[in-house]
Amino acid sequence: AFEVRLASSGRTLTVAANQTVTTALAAAGVEVPTSCEQGVCGTCLTRILAGEPDHRDAYLTPEEQAANDQFLPCCSRARSPLLILDL
Ligand code: FES
Repeated sequence: AFEVRLASSGRTLTVAANQTVTTALAAAGVEVPTSCEQGVCGTCLTRILAGEPDHRDAYLTPEEQAANDQFLPCCSRARSPLLILDL
């Protein structure tokens, strides 16, 4: 598990091993638009303000992934214990 923090509210949510970031956000009432839910379409693209994502998508280029400033929360996870999201 890891945590995500919403920059706008400071709210911190735990993402369990068996759920996606978008699922954890939705359970807390934070809707990120999704479509494919497989890391292909880019609909759920979310900016990251701090922390290191674990990219599992097929949408961002390797360069974009390496920048670590955005990720696809329908499938990607975190390498650091906490991600601060621009939400
Ligand atoms: Fe398609 Fe996340 S919903 S990439």
